[in-house]
Amino acid sequence: MSDGADLELVEHLVERGVLAHSARATVEVLSGGVSADVALVTAGPRRVVVKRALARLRVAREWSSSPTRVETEAAALEVARRILPANVPTVIDLDRERSVLVLECAPIDAVNWKRELLAGLIDPALGGRLGAALALWHAHSAEDPEVIDRFSHDTHFFDLRISPFFLATAEVHRDLEGRIHEVVERMARRRLCLVHGDFSPKNVLHGHDWCWVVDWETAHTGDPTFDLAFLVSHLVSKSVHRRSDSPRYRECALAFLDAYRRHGGVPPDEAGLVPMIGCLLLARVDGKSPVDYLDEDGRERLRSLGRAIVAGERRDLDALWPDGPGPAGVTR
Ligand SMILES: Nc1ncnc2c1ncn2[C@@H]1O[C@H](COP(=O)(O)OP(=O)(O)O)[C@@H](O)[C@H]1O
Ligand SMILES: [Mg+2]
Repeated sequence: MSDGADLELVEHLVERGVLAHSARATVEVLSGGVSADVALVTAGPRRVVVKRALARLRVAREWSSSPTRVETEAAALEVARRILPANVPTVIDLDRERSVLVLECAPIDAVNWKRELLAGLIDPALGGRLGAALALWHAHSAEDPEVIDRFSHDTHFFDLRISPFFLATAEVHRDLEGRIHEVVERMARRRLCLVHGDFSPKNVLHGHDWCWVVDWETAHTGDPTFDLAFLVSHLVSKSVHRRSDSPRYRECALAFLDAYRRHGGVPPDEAGLVPMIGCLLLARVDGKSPVDYLDEDGRERLRSLGRAIVAGERRDLDALWPDGPGPAGVTR
């Protein structure tokens, strides 16, 4: 953000009563976001995070979605907070006219889970904590007709997920188009609970005794299978990147899925889970939001793994991991 934009942002926060008039503030752009301007604003002891939706996302291929995403995000955060207050930031302010959302900033010891996972710091217990939290968000929202109704309309899931991930990938892999469309159709029929829609490690912040899930702008009433498949697909992609750690990523995925089931999550589409993971893996290479840490060789390995899963050649969860289950199969 330029200095002018920083000033404008601080003035906005003063005008909205988030910061005091006299506040001397510093603005720091937070890394990791592709779809919004996300900044950390610090004024004395006050630290807030500000999100402004961009109409055009910062990725190479054209991909757009409405700025009212921040409204969906604010509403979903309120729901998530009612269910599990310790696992999401508080919404401090929402300016609907300007599409600006202000959130409580994470504690100072926060680390981003994606960064840790890419460095080989893989904690299956955190996978378990996230599975338990997701189970409660899904299960409680499934029983709330108001939530089901609110997130059935005006959500951004099609623009931000179905179109760039599934439909764009089906255009590249024409021979698998029918199978990819079938995954989308199965998912569309299951409108069961509040689904986060971007349940990935980059949206998990944690410290030693807490964890938060952020970035709820793709929240919608839908199929819980999607959140499960999305997180597992991120762990599989990372195991393609760091093959020697594949058993640990697998352990983490299994801890996540196991905790989800033990904590009463909404039953996923068992037959649909693995094919959906396959589509998402393929989308990370040939969709509109490609993975940023794989080289050409890694992308090719992810592509062939994704294709084999979507084609039905690899059908169970143990067959997703590049080196197969257990340390015995691990090679570099
Ligand atoms: N409340 C918060 N406190 C601290 N950091 C945050 C907070 N919200 C987001 N971030 C950081 O900013 C990054 C981008 O924010 P996010 O809401 O995920 O936006 P985007 O839609 O651009 O991905 C996150 O990955 C996280 O590292
Ligand atoms: Mg994000």
